[in-house]
Parts: sequence; C-alpha cells; structure tokens
Amino acid sequence: MDGNGRWASRRRMPRVLGHEQGVEALVRTVRACAERGIEYLTVFAFSSENWKRPEEEVSGLMKLVLVAVSKHVQQLAEAGVRIHIVGDRSKVSDKVKASWDQAEAATRHNSRMVLSVAFNYGGRWDIVQACRRAMADGLGPDDLSEATLARYMALSHAPDPDLFIRTGGELRISNFLLWQAAYAELYFTDCLWPDFDAGQLDAALAAYAARERRFGDVKPATAPARTAEEV
Ligand code: FPP
Repeated sequence: MDGNGRWASRRRMPRVLGHEQGVEALVRTVRACAERGIEYLTVFAFSSENWKRPEEEVSGLMKLVLVAVSKHVQQLAEAGVRIHIVGDRSKVSDKVKASWDQAEAATRHNSRMVLSVAFNYGGRWDIVQACRRAMADGLGPDDLSEATLARYMALSHAPDPDLFIRTGGELRISNFLLWQAAYAELYFTDCLWPDFDAGQLDAALAAYAARERRFGDVKPATAPARTAEEV
C-alpha cells in the first residue's frame, strides 16, 4: 500500500494524513474484493524496516491502528471478513496487541473473505521464524521440506497469492511475501495507495486475466502446479 506519504505531501499535508486516507482505501478495497468473490487479500501495512521512519510517523501509524480497528472492524465483521494479523507482535505496544487481538476475535467465525494484515512483517523474518519454530518442534534437516516449512510460515492459513499488486510506482517487492509470491503475477501501478479504488482493482484483475501462468511448465496451467512431494 505504497504512496501514502507522497499523496499527503502533494497536498501539503502531514504524512500521517496520507496514512489515514490509506486506511479508507484499504476498507474500500476489502469491500471491492469481497464483492468480486476474492477469498484472500493480504496487505502490507507496516514492515520490519518501517521502524526507521521518524518517531512522529511511527507513533502516528500505531495510533491509526487503534482508530482503524475501533472504526472499521465491526463493519468488516458484518461483511463476513475474517482478519488475521501476521508479523512479529513482540515489538508492538500492549495497546496495539490488544487491538489486533480484538480484530481477530471479532471476526474469527467469518469465512467469506480472509484479510491478512502484515504488520511488523518482513519476508525474511517470516522464513527465519518458520525455521526456528520447526526446529523448536524437533524437526531435523531430513524432516524439512517445502511442504513442512510452509506449515510454519506466518501465512499458513492462506494459499499462495495469485496476484501481487504494488501501488506507488516503485518496481520492487521490498521484502513482502518472499516465500509465498514465488509464482505470483506481479502488477505495478503508479496510482498512489490513497487513490486506489474499485476501478484500479478491476484494471489489475484485467491485467492478471490476460497473463499466461505456466508454473515452470511449458503449457499454461489453470491451478498452481503441485510440488513433487504433493503429487
Ligand atoms: C507506505 O507508503 C505505506 C505505509 C508504510 C503504511 C501503510 C499503512 C496504511 C495504509 C494504514 C494501514 C493501517 C492499518 C490499521 C492496517 P509510504 O508512506 O511509503 O508512501 P511514500 O512512498 O509516498 O512516502
């Protein structure tokens, strides 16, 4: 969800107001995805590296979590959305932790759509925490395979993404879903995140529909190829 800062700066507003509009864009997008039958949406809200930002912006983002959860979670719950928070919760404040617990608890019986919010998340962090947890469970080198490690990844509740959208014009994935996005179709748009809406989503979906997915095979596939272990 890149581009909040630039969106605000162009209007001579503090960056945190761009993040506020980013929350509105997120709620809009969740609804648009649910309406289109998309069952899993994962968003990058705060990276392991975002702590490097000015203190004012970091604390503004943390406050925004509390406001966003109290303002929007009930409506999302009523719309059938289940929320999962993925990332390292050990470094966030007790208030933010409680907010995330509330969002997960209020939506845990829902099944229309799963919204995973990556917060204090990094793709490399995820791979390391998965290895650590697998080792703590007593798995040795011979037990480890792609399928077993996948069970320890933070997004083990969701299938690998089909489509990876980055707004804001940068052409990189910045440590998001490194493991899971192996075969995702990448879509980059100059649209700044606060301007993202159903029309932008439809443009991304149309681009995705025109892609030919081969998963390493020579002919197009309709579903993700299974690994040798799964076959
Ligand atoms: C990147 O834009 C955006 C972020 C680091 C924060 C994204 C967060 C939100 C949309 C709010 C989500 C909040 C909740 C409660 C889930 P940027 O600041 O890097 O923009 P820039 O590249 O224009 O500077």
